[in-house]
Amino acid sequence: MAKAKGKPVAARHVSIVSPSTRKKLEPVLKTVLRDVKPSEKEMEQMTFYSNQLILRLLQVAPKDVEIISAGSVARGTQIRGTSDIDIFLLFPKTQSEDAMEKKGIELAKKVVAKHKNESFMIKYAEHPYVRLIFNDVGLNADIVPAFKIANASERITAVDRTQLHNEFINKALTARQRDDVRILKAFLKAHNIYGAGAEFDAFSGYLCELLVHHYGSFIDVVSAFATLKLPKVILPLNRGEHKQGSEELKNMVKKFNKDFIVIDPTDPDRNVAAVVSKEAVARLSVAARLLLGEPSIKVFYGPRYSEVYSERKITHLRDALHLNVYTLAFKMRDIAPDILWQQLRRLKGKLEYSMKKEGFHVVLSLENISGTTGVIALLISDAYVGHFLAEGPSAFMNESAGRFLAAHPKALGIFFKEDRILALEEARYNTPKELITDLLSNDGEFPSYLKKKNMRLFMNNMPEDIAKLVYSAFIRKTTI
Ligand code: CTP
Ligand code: MG
Repeated sequence: MAKAKGKPVAARHVSIVSPSTRKKLEPVLKTVLRDVKPSEKEMEQMTFYSNQLILRLLQVAPKDVEIISAGSVARGTQIRGTSDIDIFLLFPKTQSEDAMEKKGIELAKKVVAKHKNESFMIKYAEHPYVRLIFNDVGLNADIVPAFKIANASERITAVDRTQLHNEFINKALTARQRDDVRILKAFLKAHNIYGAGAEFDAFSGYLCELLVHHYGSFIDVVSAFATLKLPKVILPLNRGEHKQGSEELKNMVKKFNKDFIVIDPTDPDRNVAAVVSKEAVARLSVAARLLLGEPSIKVFYGPRYSEVYSERKITHLRDALHLNVYTLAFKMRDIAPDILWQQLRRLKGKLEYSMKKEGFHVVLSLENISGTTGVIALLISDAYVGHFLAEGPSAFMNESAGRFLAAHPKALGIFFKEDRILALEEARYNTPKELITDLLSNDGEFPSYLKKKNMRLFMNNMPEDIAKLVYSAFIRKTTI
């Protein structure tokens, strides 16, 4: 583990939670814990299957490969239903990365007992791993090959750090804090900001563990986020923080190019919150204030909604807001969800950019994935556009101003916004549909994992299964 550097750090967060709020919150958290903490029996079952896999792997693995249980199951921070077993195969660093990957996958495949109704799939993160599925009990185990290391400076792949996380968290957290991690995961899940990588650029399990360790309890995490000011640099190793306005803080912000930073106690060069979007931090901050304002189960879990009659609800929304809903539905390849989300978001970004450029007003854009179906929905306020204003450079920028004018020989008018030149042009596309169709006919615009031949474009009306995806994305985006 890295040593604590002797830099001065600010005093820790002082709770803003009053004794009466705390008193109201405690029974709420007790109820939540009952909901999310797996029962003794469920935990025994997880441990049983985890041990069984480890035993099977020990039988087939060479002596120099160490096998450990990692992740939330090994740390006692797993939550009911969604936490999987994580098993790491730690190879000596004498092997090449390629060999480690290949052998790891081979070993993992060997222990899948098909006669016990187990199956597997290869998943891809930075490098491939095997997901083993116990079909009879509805449990998954990720078997991940990595290198055995003693500290982060020896690290070769990103997942090598996990063994160090295990050590740190198992030493750092009390039993009560482990339950608080579960409560924090539940709170984030309820507000759609839990889980790194895939659907949301949000808080990971390890980040939850570090936050509870740093602040001391779930209530203190909530208190801290309710009063959060950015930039923020958290140093969980010695439970310190860099002072607002200090040189150290500025340097960190520059180094990590982020303003919410949680330094990995096992690796000073890694920001554990690197993927957490500003929106996720903002959402947690608001949700925290709401919870402290009204400590109740209702506020903890946030607004509930039902997906039935999604089509009807979208129609309603459309009429009330005078919006047109353009929905693209795709069949996608069966690959890592984070890549699919990335591609879907990129395509959505391109569509939004072109819409704006061509004079359409996109009020809200949504994306969603379920299984191998992906959707992008754009809520657009104007159905018909006859013109658009092209924005040019300043009149004083000789060359580019000349180029801009030359590029708009047929402009219906040349305007000035102060010194900036604008050209009023007849619209190239009168309706969003024309634009979408044209844009998507260009193969270069199309991400590789979305299957174009199965793409469908819906204007306003759509089948209920697609409407459900659009509606749930709408709710997630527009509620807290
Ligand atoms: N990990 C990481 N960075 C990621 C994803 C995972 O460092 N982006 C490491 C963490 O040490 C994490 C472990 O891999 O604890 C297992 O990952 P995962 O199963 O995603 O998280 P858990 O902590 O097990 O949480 P959950 O209960 O959601 O499974
Ligand atoms: Mg896990």
